[in-house]
Amino acid sequence: MTGKTLAYVVGARPNYMKIAPIHAALRAEGTLVQSIVHTGQHYDPLLAETLFAELGLPEPEIQLAVGSGSHGEQTAAALVGTERALVELEPDLVVVAGDVNSTLAGALAAVKLGLPVCHVEAGLRSFDDSMPEEHNRRLTDHLSEVLLVHCRDAVDNLEREGIDAARIGFVGNTMIDTLLAHVDAARERAVWSAYGLQEKGYLLVTLHRPALVDNPGLLALALEALGEVGRELPVIFPMHPRTQARLPAAVPDSVLVTPSLPYGDFLSLEAGASAVVTDSGGVQEETTMLGVPCFTLRDNTERPVTIAEGTNTLLGLDPERVREIPGLLALGAGQQDRCPPLWDGRAGQRAAAAILGALGLRPVVGSVP
Ligand code: UD1
Repeated sequence: MTGKTLAYVVGARPNYMKIAPIHAALRAEGTLVQSIVHTGQHYDPLLAETLFAELGLPEPEIQLAVGSGSHGEQTAAALVGTERALVELEPDLVVVAGDVNSTLAGALAAVKLGLPVCHVEAGLRSFDDSMPEEHNRRLTDHLSEVLLVHCRDAVDNLEREGIDAARIGFVGNTMIDTLLAHVDAARERAVWSAYGLQEKGYLLVTLHRPALVDNPGLLALALEALGEVGRELPVIFPMHPRTQARLPAAVPDSVLVTPSLPYGDFLSLEAGASAVVTDSGGVQEETTMLGVPCFTLRDNTERPVTIAEGTNTLLGLDPERVREIPGLLALGAGQQDRCPPLWDGRAGQRAAAAILGALGLRPVVGSVP
């Protein structure tokens, strides 16, 4: 042990899959003491504790209780709480991931204490300023000293914004490491059969973004279109609490709604699906890795690599287009059989090496090839 310490600040479901492989690689390497601060942005056990245990992450050293609220309230509460936590932990480096409100709060709390920040999944841009995540990403990148990226367009975005190439490490996709570590067991468990579904015989749905689910008209149209598709291809919809809270009284019988699922159950359903309909960023990447056609109900994506090199089709924020999915599948949509570079299961190790390098403990690896 060097006496150097690292603190991760996380708060929402997609953060955990991104840090787990880095945490594991650094734990195995043994040089650093690692702590986790959970802001409590997500507080349902299914969006927090259950996932920590499944992904092999230890319980957070510090658990805050930020909870829900407006963006300003939630980000501010996470900022105040994280600052106190970092004062207590005195880390040498703070690691944040992705683009949720807790990511920005963690980065801001750190820099205001004079602590360097490492941003995992840096450089993504949707160029859509109506998304809270776009502000979180851009601001976090500009607060960070170490920017770990997972696709080439992220490097281009950062360089275009004047970020010094020496701060950027192209390490690959740590969330894909997590997927690869769990996918064989997930497939074997065949979770689809527990819901009476056949492998490659159903459509998996995830929708939770405010642009869609906070608009009652659009959510109703999406459910209606899914109901219609469901008469031909069974539809299963594990539902995020945000969506659940906005659900109209009547959901078509042909759409099977479940609560949010544990990571392994969801991955099993994703791997076994004929296709996926989503507005999630992570699911666009996971389906590319799994080779499962993905239809994204958004006008843009910060992950264009999933279209250029993966299985993603952007349908637009137009739920009516869900009706086209069986026809698009019959025409071979989303059949690409490629995978973006460095989505290879070793990104966590490259990220760990880059972190050690930034702390002066190892030469930096994973720089832009
Ligand atoms: C957040 C992220 C989003 C990410 C998503 C993954 C931001 C701006 N958004 O969105 O980028 O894709 O997480 O899930 O950070 N709720 C519960 N239980 C919980 C958490 C939330 O019931 O444990 C409900 C509450 O009604 C809350 C709503 O979900 O108001 C939204 O939660 P919030 O954390 O604000 O944003 P998400 O929609 O989860």
